Amino acid sequence: MTLKDQAESASEAGVGRYDWERETTHRTGAGSVDDPYPLIAERRAETPVAHDSFFGMFGLPDPMAAAWPDAERFSTLTYAATEAVLRDNATFSNAGIRRMTEDVFGPVSLMGADDPEHRQFRLLVQPAFGKKAMGLWTSWVKPRLGELIDGFEGDGRAELYFDYCARFPVFVIAMTLGVAREDLDHFHELAAKLQIGAAPAEEARAARHQVEDYMRRVIAARRVAPKDDLISLLIDSEIREDGAARKITEEQILGLVCNLLPAGAGTTYRSLGIILVTLLQRPELMARLYADRDLVPLVIEEALRWNGPVLTAPFRLATADAEIEGVKIPKGALVEPGIAAANRDPARFERADEFDPFRAQQPNLAFSFGAHFCVGGQVARMELRSALNALLDRLPNLRFDPDVPEPQLTGLLYRMPTGLPVVWG
Ligand code: HEM
Repeated sequence: MTLKDQAESASEAGVGRYDWERETTHRTGAGSVDDPYPLIAERRAETPVAHDSFFGMFGLPDPMAAAWPDAERFSTLTYAATEAVLRDNATFSNAGIRRMTEDVFGPVSLMGADDPEHRQFRLLVQPAFGKKAMGLWTSWVKPRLGELIDGFEGDGRAELYFDYCARFPVFVIAMTLGVAREDLDHFHELAAKLQIGAAPAEEARAARHQVEDYMRRVIAARRVAPKDDLISLLIDSEIREDGAARKITEEQILGLVCNLLPAGAGTTYRSLGIILVTLLQRPELMARLYADRDLVPLVIEEALRWNGPVLTAPFRLATADAEIEGVKIPKGALVEPGIAAANRDPARFERADEFDPFRAQQPNLAFSFGAHFCVGGQVARMELRSALNALLDRLPNLRFDPDVPEPQLTGLLYRMPTGLPVVWG
């Protein structure tokens, strides 16, 4: 497929180079919804909490409905309502998503657990983000970025979304987990199918079993000969339970891998693609960024607020009759914490629909909030900074390829660009 064909077909039926990629992205709204924000704003003006799921609001089949066909659905649209749901994990429980995460992650599911089990899982995952582990994540980043840019630098043009953004965070997490380079493409597909809502239950389950079988072999090898990777680190880690220290079990390590793989592989590259499209649509800002790299973190934070890669945190299950911002939620209803809607709430952010990296900084909900806030935020930010800086270092005067239709942002549950054809020099 030429770059032109790719750009044209993207907005029709999902985004991707491979069938599995187009299918998983299409299922989660790519090609069906390009800009969800006008309708969200319309609904927010009527109510802080819509009596519908986000997919329902957009008239799309809800990939999450099968697990709970009869539940009443709600979605929060304001910052205050979203924060209220995320803050109260007892009334708005994560057990609701468990019916889906069991297929995807198995018994260790950070997303599907409530306290005290959830606190235990967060303790288990801590070694993966401690100081030593951050060094491991970082060590894979720069060489990979360099190698990818080497691959197209001489051509003067590239498809940056598929040949740069999409080939980098999945590599970092795969290498950190001890996956062999030749298995990388296959792992990318497995990671995509493990994203919540991205594949039918049987495909998600099959993907999980393949990851587990593979990782059992890696764990066995690392027990004999440890390496400088996350699996060796987790094998070695101890957690304290009832006052005593004990090693993490193999099943727990496998669970953590299945939790981390889709989260680490799927979100950051889409965010990078969104950031780059946003910058290339604003050549003056791009020029300022080349000249002043201190702006890089501001651009990243603002892009995460303005158009993050995730529309909603996993839905919560109301464990009792409740009320959010005056809207009654019956026990047993499912509530989607609309983090993207919250991040565009004009009651919280002035000129909320404007992308303005120079705005006064204040926290947003891109990485969520409360007990389940994203564990990978620091890794994601480090990856985004490095990837942006590497491009600015090596490819001067980056701009959209004038011979290919300009890409656009698309997607509902997961947001992404349709592509990123560029030239430079
Ligand atoms: C731009 C990149 C990313 C964004 C926007 C993002 C966003 C999110 C959001 C919205 C949640 C849901 C939290 C909730 O239920 O309240 C989440 C959870 C999670 N994320 Fe991320 N994430 C990103 C990157 C990563 C990376 C790189 C990793 C790991 C390497 C990661 C690992 C996780 C895990 C394990 C959870 C489950 C946490 C829990 O339920 O306790 N994420 N993330």
